[in-house]
Amino acid sequence: MKRIAALLLCCLLMLTACGQSAQPTEAESPIPEPQTSAAPVVESVETAAAPSVSDDKVLIVYFAVAENSDVDAVSSASVVAGTSDGMSKFIADIIAERTGGELFSIRTEEKFPGQYEPLADRAKEQQNNGELPPLTSHIENLGDYDVIFIGYPVWWYTLPQVMFSFFDEYDFAGKTIVPFVTHYGSRDGGTFRTIAELEPEATVLQGIAVHQNDVANCREDVLEWLSGLGW
Ligand SMILES: Cc1cc2nc3c(=O)[nH]c(=O)nc-3n(C[C@H](O)[C@H](O)[C@H](O)COP(=O)(O)O)c2cc1C
Repeated sequence: MKRIAALLLCCLLMLTACGQSAQPTEAESPIPEPQTSAAPVVESVETAAAPSVSDDKVLIVYFAVAENSDVDAVSSASVVAGTSDGMSKFIADIIAERTGGELFSIRTEEKFPGQYEPLADRAKEQQNNGELPPLTSHIENLGDYDVIFIGYPVWWYTLPQVMFSFFDEYDFAGKTIVPFVTHYGSRDGGTFRTIAELEPEATVLQGIAVHQNDVANCREDVLEWLSGLGW
């Protein structure tokens, strides 16, 4: 009897351990449990100390799925409530206002599905295949800029594949990169470090990670973050 009980316990422990796998299966949603509102909005990342940047020429690059979908952006879940802006665009506008920088929207050849599930599937497929989706917007005068803010959502725990296309296209050697990201619990998802690895000859300053639910009210946090960087 004791042997049967021990066997049953053993099976139970094995099943529990399997259920705790850190890697999601294909069918799982990539969106993790949301953080509590006490979670800090600003992420820290190992970067150089903020130089005096206020005189530098600034470009603010962002990828917003709302601008790369066939679906009406205004009714899409990818826009900030009460606006027609995608998450990254909303933050990009605040940065532009403070820094005087110019905006650049990353546009893709492929239009993404407007609904969450097909979008999640397509994003995962791109990631699994290591696709570098063709971009249709290009920065013609990168040489004019000293500082490039780069905004994007976390997709499947890292950068959307579109962002890998972007970093593949440009060499940011000698430039300063400042990342900003929106997410649903993964915070920066390690992407600040990934960017530093993709662009080893750029200086990557401390980025900001804003939870999707906080985007509409993130203005003060973003301004404070910029102030800490010298703007
Ligand atoms: C395809 C897809 C994958 C996602 N994966 C993650 C993830 O791994 N971690 C996370 O915190 N949020 C994840 N999210 C949530 C987005 O990062 C978050 O909603 C973001 O604010 C979306 O910005 P956007 O609407 O401009 O794309 C994912 C969303 C989508 C659509």
